[in-house]
Amino acid sequence: MPFRVFVLTASDAGSRGEREDKSGPCIEEMVTAAGYEVTGRVLLPDDREALAEKMREVCDDDLADLLLTTGGTGFSPRDCMPEATADVTERAVPGIPEAMRYLSLQITPRAMLSRASAGIRKGTLIVNLPGSPKAVKECLEFILPALEHGLEILRGTAHNCARQ
Ligand code: MTE
Repeated sequence: MPFRVFVLTASDAGSRGEREDKSGPCIEEMVTAAGYEVTGRVLLPDDREALAEKMREVCDDDLADLLLTTGGTGFSPRDCMPEATADVTERAVPGIPEAMRYLSLQITPRAMLSRASAGIRKGTLIVNLPGSPKAVKECLEFILPALEHGLEILRGTAHNCARQ
């Protein structure tokens, strides 16, 4: 069974129809090419409660094994994706955003401006990606190969490395 991915874009301008969402489709294209099944893609305004509510729904209704978000990780007053993620996650996964920033800092010093986070709610891993399609591509290419093992452990089809 392929892992299921739900894509959530946060963009005020996108939700008003003033800007085309290129990052959501970019994620969808990349994960599909990697063999994942995309079960949904939604664009919402940068609203902490609306984003948290959608994330809760995806996790609690078991709509995806992996919830990838894009946008809302910067410094703009409306950027609230990490806060919405913290509102819903039960366990933090700091290594994934650390890895993204490690990689991204080799491309641009501005990578330090991403406040992206990651965590687990029930059986779903939530990962914040930055907002631009360029950053999405760079980060996703780097983390995707390692994510699979984590998703297998979460699903119960692989053992924790320490127990092997
Ligand atoms: N990471 C990578 N790999 N490549 C990039 O171009 N841009 C940075 C950073 N991370 C970037 C990146 C910039 S300019 C910002 S402001 C932050 O991500 C936050 O982006 P967001 O507000 O669109 O989520």
